[in-house]
Amino acid sequence: MSELLEHLKKRIAAEGPLLVADYMSEALANPKHGYYMTGDPLGKSGDFITAPEISQMFGELIGLWCAITWNQMGSPSKINLIEMGPGRGTLMVDAIRALVMAPQFLDAIDIHMIETSPSLQKRQRRNLDALDVDIQWHKSFADVPEGPFILVANELLDALPIRQFEKSVAGWGERKVGCNEAGELHWMLDQSAAVPEAFIPAALADSPPGSIFEFSPAGVALVTSIAGEIAKYGGAALFIDYGHTPSGIGDTLQAVKDHKFHDVLCDPGEADLTAHVDFEQMAENARAAGALAYGAITQRDFLRPLGIEHRAKQLKKIASTGQMNEVFSGLNRLIGEDEMGTLFKVLALTHPDMPMPEGFGYDNDKGE
Ligand SMILES: C[S@@+](CC[C@H](N)C(=O)[O-])C[C@H]1O[C@@H](n2cnc3c(N)ncnc32)[C@H](O)[C@@H]1O
Repeated sequence: MSELLEHLKKRIAAEGPLLVADYMSEALANPKHGYYMTGDPLGKSGDFITAPEISQMFGELIGLWCAITWNQMGSPSKINLIEMGPGRGTLMVDAIRALVMAPQFLDAIDIHMIETSPSLQKRQRRNLDALDVDIQWHKSFADVPEGPFILVANELLDALPIRQFEKSVAGWGERKVGCNEAGELHWMLDQSAAVPEAFIPAALADSPPGSIFEFSPAGVALVTSIAGEIAKYGGAALFIDYGHTPSGIGDTLQAVKDHKFHDVLCDPGEADLTAHVDFEQMAENARAAGALAYGAITQRDFLRPLGIEHRAKQLKKIASTGQMNEVFSGLNRLIGEDEMGTLFKVLALTHPDMPMPEGFGYDNDKGE
């Protein structure tokens, strides 16, 4: 039995069944045994692959988006460029390489990486070492020096712990993780748990028995804090994730190991755990904190106006046959309708004085 499983059982014996958020938090971020704390789960040899690892075009276009956004801000002479949850640092490497086209932006930025995993932070330092740029690392958004900023986060929000509320004939209760006499972890519904009314959107309150509603306290707190800082200092943020809008009903918590789905309660700390992001919830909280929120739109609708197909054609001209296949399979995975193109969504937050961010062709989600 793994040390983390042993620790979880002791915790359940002492405190009672765990909130799903506490289970997720232990499985992903336990300082000794958490999934992200112990190694590098990304890439073909890991458990899953992300957009920056699929193609350099992703990081290049996000870099371009940041430079355009800086321009929309009036090209301030100093600005923090922040990446939160940078994985291997690949997005930032590709972004900076592409930004040689925008030397004034490169001169204006101080780069800050926010990473909680010591092993991934090491990996990022190794990958970014070769670039001639100064970078500071932090453990949380609150540690980044104050001032105007542009923040990007790819597949961060889906890794933050969620709570799950389940409706039964007796009303809403909280889903928890218990442990049976045989020492196996299992799901249970705590019908006596007080479910804060404000957590369940009014439109979903009357959902039928069996419905599950998910709420990410850490995600909402983070987005609220970022939006508040945008309203105060100026700037923008871009969140890209597996998720949905509007808010809805459903159990989206999933585990992935070796590129395959896995049982969520099996092997805690050894499989990735994620939950779809409720982008409506995030956008509403960002607006309440004083920022404008655009989207979430699909990754496909975001990357196409930024010129991903044009960039693929450019790369094709200088590619070998093998590389050419890679460019086009990468393009298809990033914007394909039955691939990440529609499964992934993009939410942008901006200061209220800024125009619509690049890539967002419509503003019907602006909430005005
Ligand atoms: C799914 S990976 C995505 C990595 C990268 N953005 C990419 O697209 O390849 C999630 C990343 O977020 C980091 N992470 C998880 N929780 C975090 C938190 N609370 N603050 C900062 N980083 C976090 C993980 O260590 C990892 O680097």
